[in-house]
Amino acid sequence: MTIPFFTNKYQEERYGDQILEIIKAICKKGVFIMGEEVKRFEQRMAAFTNCKHAIGVANGSDALFLALDAMHLPEGSEIITTPFTFFASTSCIIRNNHIPVFVDIDEKTYNIDVNKIETKITKKTKALLPVDLFSQTADIDGINNLAKAHGLKVLEDSAEAFGMKWNGRHAGCESDIGVLSFFPTKTLGCYGDGGMVISNNDSYAEEIRITRVHGASKKYHHTFVGINSRLDELQAGVLNIKLDHVEEEIKERAKIISLYCEQLKDIPTIALPAVSPNATPVWYVFSIQCDRRNELEAQLKANGIGTSVYYPRAMHEQPCFAWLGYKKGDFPIAEKLCESSLALPVFIGMTDEMITYICEKIRDFYKH
Ligand SMILES: Cc1ncc(COP(=O)(O)O)c(C=O)c1O
Repeated sequence: MTIPFFTNKYQEERYGDQILEIIKAICKKGVFIMGEEVKRFEQRMAAFTNCKHAIGVANGSDALFLALDAMHLPEGSEIITTPFTFFASTSCIIRNNHIPVFVDIDEKTYNIDVNKIETKITKKTKALLPVDLFSQTADIDGINNLAKAHGLKVLEDSAEAFGMKWNGRHAGCESDIGVLSFFPTKTLGCYGDGGMVISNNDSYAEEIRITRVHGASKKYHHTFVGINSRLDELQAGVLNIKLDHVEEEIKERAKIISLYCEQLKDIPTIALPAVSPNATPVWYVFSIQCDRRNELEAQLKANGIGTSVYYPRAMHEQPCFAWLGYKKGDFPIAEKLCESSLALPVFIGMTDEMITYICEKIRDFYKH
């Protein structure tokens, strides 16, 4: 059997014709920038997340950059964040001329350990930047309490967190600003790049709406210098179709993961992710911790099974951040996960037979 790590093949089979229809309709209309599809998608996302403002931008990385830019923190501010994340969570801090200050993660949830944040807060700390990783949000109530006590802003990297909730509230909305990515593999993914800023703060939202169009408050009237970062009309069209199906797909993802967990639970060399009781998970990525990860990965590959490693190297060990002065051993839990985590295939249309095949191959590996 050949099982890719990710494929949109089955979504294409189910409703690809609807997507082609909307693409054709947009092409016929000829409005490709900031058209009706973008407007409708922004309105629907504001309703879906229960957030006042939802602003489409070119990708999740730009959403992070624009969000931090809008906070107008003094240059050189320290921003506390996790070292176990995708690059964009940290690079947005550097691109805004601030300093990332890392705090290790919780081994069970893979998210920033809120109990370790306070000792890292200094006079220069101006914001917290938690990341909602793989299936569940960071402890947003804990983070917001700390932020309130110390007068800090919160930018939540909820790029992976479409549909995830903390105490019943959608990811990103309880923070000053949250972001979403619609990268094709995401729970709600488009057919290219796409992203969004979500916020209940009117002034941040107004500024970001202007910054994404070169700082023009009116066409060709530039109030300040911005960038070009708009959600494409064709992508918004695709997203509007996929939004109709995504809640069913989230349930399908949950079934896939419960079958994985059932079949893997008694393998002592594997640790399954644990979901916090406050979190409503959405299984974007199913990442297990395992002994002899690289060998297991190679064996699964030899058996036709695609996997991925999120993340092979933590942010404090990236060559481009060497000047921050961190060293190996500074964040032992993040480093351990970089060596032991392995993401198994999760995609819409995965069959029970595929999951059983994968679990059998994992079991076989540990017999030897
Ligand atoms: C945690 C996290 N932050 C930021 C991003 C950046 O999003 P994008 O790829 O849309 O730029 C991603 C997605 O890849 C992500 O997983």
